[in-house]
Amino acid sequence: MSIVTCIAPVNIAVIKYWGKRDEDLILPINDSISLSLDTQQLCTKTTVMASPNFKENKIWLNGREESINNKRLQNCLEKIKSKATLTNEMEMWKVHICSNNNFPTAAGLASSAAGYACLTAALAKLYNFTGDISEIARTGSGSACRSVFGGFVRWYMGSDPTGVDSIAKQIAPASHWPEMRIIILVVNDVSKKIPSAVGMKTSVQTSELIKYRAEVCVPKRVELMQKAIIQKNFKQFAELTMRDSNQMHAVCLDTYPPCNYLTDTSHAIIDLISSYNDASNSIKVAYTNDAGPNTVLYLLEENVPHVLGLIDYFFPPNETSNNNYKRGNPPASISPSKDLLEKLNCKKQQEGSIKYIIHTRVGEGPTYLDDPSEHLLNNSGLPKDL
Ligand code: PMV
Repeated sequence: MSIVTCIAPVNIAVIKYWGKRDEDLILPINDSISLSLDTQQLCTKTTVMASPNFKENKIWLNGREESINNKRLQNCLEKIKSKATLTNEMEMWKVHICSNNNFPTAAGLASSAAGYACLTAALAKLYNFTGDISEIARTGSGSACRSVFGGFVRWYMGSDPTGVDSIAKQIAPASHWPEMRIIILVVNDVSKKIPSAVGMKTSVQTSELIKYRAEVCVPKRVELMQKAIIQKNFKQFAELTMRDSNQMHAVCLDTYPPCNYLTDTSHAIIDLISSYNDASNSIKVAYTNDAGPNTVLYLLEENVPHVLGLIDYFFPPNETSNNNYKRGNPPASISPSKDLLEKLNCKKQQEGSIKYIIHTRVGEGPTYLDDPSEHLLNNSGLPKDL
């Protein structure tokens, strides 16, 4: 019997991946760049176990048994087995997988990236594979290839039709820019959303803008963004982040029928941040949105109390919000001055339009947990908490 437990981070892109050139191999139409977030606040934990006693492969996700015959899951399992040098015995053994997120899945935070990165990293150790795992994680979920590293990460689109060169590489470790902070505004919204895989496929089929974005804009932007990160140039980093988020959502609207991921609350947050940057005569905060209404802010540590003060003022929590409203030990807010409020052309939003706030920082890549008490599966290969 062999067992491995691993945790892996969520990542939030600052230059977005939107569109595939190969649906089966998950090959993108442009490079992308993201930051991996601290696993203390957001992570997936996965235990994988192989044993001669198991009759079939099995998987439990967030406490429920799911079908193992999911195509993307099979991609990862088969690919890693074919790359690893397995003993005949190990080749025959079936595997049990158990995976949990340390955050509510219903919050609409990208969990598939952390999930597939974690699964791939865990399987790699189980099967003793030491090569690049980003290519394998990619075949589970595109953005997962960036979560196999910590810090600042670039996914190179590559050009080989087999996908061997469509891999992620670290630009800089988390320690490179220790002042960087992330505030995730979880928006109170239950509207049905179009999954990113469906949205980007329709965009590739119908949007004219997407071609211009992939061929002209992103190639320039990824180089500028990489430079901004290496030089720790926040102004440049933030402007590129906002422009790229705006452009991804412009492509989504140029898609036919359109994919409208942003809600009134997301737009109100974007307006507030733009007004605040204007009033400050500089760029203090960047916003970015993925395929959903939650807005993620990138900012430097020194500005966190002021920005939290603005959020508290313009997006007051409702009475039912408890002391779990602000997560990740944020510093105390500083209320906006009268002078600043006059400069900002923004309206107070309805109470509770933000469900909760997560304060976090840039973090490490997948980490193995060797203490047996961390395993999610017991000695018989069943989830401990079922
Ligand atoms: O990897 P997927 O299929 O979940 O796609 C992610 C796409 C975005 O989150 C919208 C952008 C990105 O680069 O992460």
